Amino acid sequence: MSGMVIRGVGSCLPAQRLTNVDLESMMDTTDDWIADRTGIRERRIGGSTSDMAIEASRIAIERSGIDPATIELVVLSTTTPDQQVPATAPTVQAALGLNCGAIDVNAACSGFTYGLIASAGMIALGSGPVLVVGSDALSRITDYHDRGTGILFADGAGAAIVTPVDGPGSLLGWDLGTDGSARGILYADIGSVLKMDGKEVFRRAVRVMASSAENAMQRAGVTIDDISLCIPHQANIRIIDAAIQRLGIPMERTVTNLERVGNTSSGSIPLALDEAVQASRIADGDLVLVCGFGAGMTWASCVLRWGAA
Ligand code: ACO
Repeated sequence: MSGMVIRGVGSCLPAQRLTNVDLESMMDTTDDWIADRTGIRERRIGGSTSDMAIEASRIAIERSGIDPATIELVVLSTTTPDQQVPATAPTVQAALGLNCGAIDVNAACSGFTYGLIASAGMIALGSGPVLVVGSDALSRITDYHDRGTGILFADGAGAAIVTPVDGPGSLLGWDLGTDGSARGILYADIGSVLKMDGKEVFRRAVRVMASSAENAMQRAGVTIDDISLCIPHQANIRIIDAAIQRLGIPMERTVTNLERVGNTSSGSIPLALDEAVQASRIADGDLVLVCGFGAGMTWASCVLRWGAA
């Protein structure tokens, strides 16, 4: 049976910056309040889900060095598809000239990690390379008059090429979960904007991020001391702080970029992963812990041995 390995990652942010100071003229808030309560200073907006996904994927394919003709599946995580029907993955598949299957998944901010873990299953079934993408244009469904949500959400995308290797591969352990009874604490009705009970999301997020990460590490047979780098969903710096404190991993071994990019949902984890790879924060053989949560409520974590062949 083949295992999976991540061969190339890429990301894309739209050009338009929206700073906290810009938000001061749109709602009753201040730069200091947002920075203090969320860790966010600015975010990018104005991207389309497919355009950002295509650009991130092009970069990931180029960096992977694989022949795009060998890609057998596109798995695109998004909560903001270009259209209600069809899915956005076929747009990405056509734009990249791929000859393969293409599906969207929606597990909100956990979606990229769900896609990554599902791709390992496809590879175990004999699939060739899988393109896993997370792309969200949350600015399309954000109410910039609502100071409870308008300060957090943003646009961005990231992508990874996952290929088969002989042996167990990179995915050492994983954890997926959902509590659908909590779907009302963060939602957007069709044609409407995001609504959120921020305090309740905060409370649950800290708990599930830590417990899901612990489950994934237990399945992998490793402890937090073995983890070189933690890549959490970039929701709020205080959520990340509280979760990593529970896990017992210091900030120096945790990737954060939300100060510059805000919460990009499906794009969040692959964007942070790409930045960590480009900054040479991950070396072959390192154990990387990915953990996230999102609307649903969903959660997803995994432990990867980087570059395992
Ligand atoms: N600017 C200024 N003041 C504000 C703002 C704002 N943007 N928002 C709230 N306030 C005020 C409130 O009115 C309140 O004032 P009061 O004490 O006079 O009543 C005070 O600040 C505190 O408000 P809280 O709602 O208690 O603020 P809190 O510290 O909970 O922060 C926040 C709100 C930032 C939304 C926080 O709850 C949070 O980050 N929650 C998690 C959100 C999240 O991660 N969502 C996404 C997860 S899933 C996904 O990524 C799709």
